[in-house]
Amino acid sequence: MNLNYSKPDFYSRKAKDEGYVARSIYKLKEIDDKFHLIKKNQHVLDLGSAPGSWAQYVSGIVGSSGRLVGVDYKEIKVAMPNTTFLVGNFFSDEIRQQLESLGPYDGIISDMAPDTVGDRVRDCSRSSDLTWKSLDFSYGYLKKGGYFICKIFQGGEEKEIMEVMKKAFASAHWFKPDSSRKISFEIFLVGIGFIGKPQNESDESEYQKFLKESENNDGTMMW
Ligand SMILES: C[S@@+](CC[C@H](N)C(=O)[O-])C[C@H]1O[C@@H](n2cnc3c(N)ncnc32)[C@H](O)[C@@H]1O
Repeated sequence: MNLNYSKPDFYSRKAKDEGYVARSIYKLKEIDDKFHLIKKNQHVLDLGSAPGSWAQYVSGIVGSSGRLVGVDYKEIKVAMPNTTFLVGNFFSDEIRQQLESLGPYDGIISDMAPDTVGDRVRDCSRSSDLTWKSLDFSYGYLKKGGYFICKIFQGGEEKEIMEVMKKAFASAHWFKPDSSRKISFEIFLVGIGFIGKPQNESDESEYQKFLKESENNDGTMMW
């Protein structure tokens, strides 16, 4: 899969004109315009924040009595108030512990994407894995009634994840923003009104189970 995103389009130019560091801002704005989730005073966790346009948007709304916590491998170069940024892997123990101590959160939003390798099956599986893990983190650190917004690549386990989200939240929705590039197979999952981790929900994702079942005795994979 060779996606050419280098050409500036309407949303890239709009982001530049409006002082946002990335065109991704408009995807979150479209989600928020539809579902009205991000509000003043909230404590929000932004997974995969760099370069920082979602953070700019959220920081502007939650205001001085709210807080945004962001995490990314890359540093955020733009300054904004009411924010704490952690640099590192969301899945590392060190970052997880810090995020846990800064929680709980009114909303957890994730624009995380794996580095694509050009093989749709693998790219989608890795995107699903990021989503399962983010959802799993939310079970422990999202306040009751909170929301979860997460990007996922279509072609992986999005339907299974949606089924689980329907049990974990009062309502769960698909959303493809107009500002999402037509050639991109990303879509957003939106969970509203967090209830709790569904009963009987396994700690392992279907993908993790599949990997385990495909493992040889010596730890190498069958394929
Ligand atoms: C599409 S970008 C996010 C754009 C951002 N929402 C914005 O509006 O500027 C995806 C980000 O996810 C980050 N990412 C992916 N996996 C991650 C992980 N395991 N831990 C931390 N960051 C991760 C990448 O480094 C990348 O910066």
